[in-house]
Amino acid sequence: MTILVTGGAGFIGSNFVLDWFKSSDEPVVNLDALTYAGNLENLASLKDDPRHVFVQGDICDRALIDQLLSTHRPRAIVHFAAESHVDRSIHGPGAFMRTNVEGTFTLLEAARAFWSALEGDAKSGFRFHHVSTDEVYGSLKADDPPFAETNAYEPNSPYSASKAASDHLVRAWHHTYGLPVVTTNCSNNYGPYHFPEKLIPLMIVNALAGKPLPVYGDGQQIRDWLYVTDHCSGIRAVLAGGTLGETYNIGGWNEQANIDIVKTVCALLDELRPDPAGPYARLITYVKDRPGHDRRYAIDARKIERDLGWRPAETFETGIRKTVQWYLANEEWSSRVLSGAYREWVSKQYGG
Ligand SMILES: NC(=O)c1ccc[n+]([C@@H]2O[C@H](COP(=O)([O-])OP(=O)(O)OC[C@H]3O[C@@H](n4cnc5c(N)ncnc54)[C@H](O)[C@@H]3O)[C@@H](O)[C@H]2O)c1
Repeated sequence: MTILVTGGAGFIGSNFVLDWFKSSDEPVVNLDALTYAGNLENLASLKDDPRHVFVQGDICDRALIDQLLSTHRPRAIVHFAAESHVDRSIHGPGAFMRTNVEGTFTLLEAARAFWSALEGDAKSGFRFHHVSTDEVYGSLKADDPPFAETNAYEPNSPYSASKAASDHLVRAWHHTYGLPVVTTNCSNNYGPYHFPEKLIPLMIVNALAGKPLPVYGDGQQIRDWLYVTDHCSGIRAVLAGGTLGETYNIGGWNEQANIDIVKTVCALLDELRPDPAGPYARLITYVKDRPGHDRRYAIDARKIERDLGWRPAETFETGIRKTVQWYLANEEWSSRVLSGAYREWVSKQYGG
């Protein structure tokens, strides 16, 4: 048995692969294009591990995917690969359409051809697990109930529109062709190996460098935050027991305004690495808001709990402390990401 993971050198994908081997010896074929967001250094501990096969390649490359499927004959595809940063999608939406829409389409078509030729248990057991986001549901008002799986799709950014499109393709490939799919829509993740362009790691690395901590608008945008390994366990639960064609929302029951997240990070840094110049919160700087910035996301994660018994293991207090401690213990990782040196990792470690 083998699974094929796409995007397994990114933030969540690499946490998923590392986490997978804590509870399973089932091999993982990891297909990742190593865009700026892919960092093989995250998987350095697996370098000589025969259970992990890394393939640098593009999910839009149909011939490559066909070849990987016929060589490794995975029992499941877990599809993380995506362009994932909202700000980048505003400045350059083309890459998001290509990877998130065309890439998912290519993967679905390759999976359909592979799965159609399977028989018996191999066919009935095959899964295509699509990893998506709560951002497809749009923005909530302060007193709206949290997003349920039945909410209408109202994506507002090029990123969320491209993810919504990919969710619709996955749904249609199940409905039309019977492809055995499951989809998870998760809230904001945080934890180790998070690229420092996203809120929490950006605040940590900027604070440690004595740089301003940029907060969009009034900082009152609310998100639900989930520790990344809880997302990984939610995916494993849905992959193992989810009903075909269904979607499952995954969330942390933890709504927080961005400014409160930043203040919590500052307080933890004050405790763990005090700055002689004064409390880190002095660096908070409000900047012009992102265009079309969604005001509030919140997740109703009752379905995955009721049907599959999943709940997050971490509270925000335990998860954010672990995260800040990880960044303090791994400052070299952050500095190689910031300097761009992480991109030389493949050639250094794998001789080109
Ligand atoms: N980060 C979050 O908070 C969050 C929340 C919910 C859902 N998601 C979803 O989870 C998935 C992973 O998110 P992430 O934060 O780890 O993203 P990320 O940007 O950190 O990683 C994406 C990975 O995909 C790879 N990739 C990009 N284009 C590719 C292509 N054309 N072919 C092959 N590989 C390619 C990149 O090299 C990178 O390793 C995405 O689908 C995202 O929409 C993310």
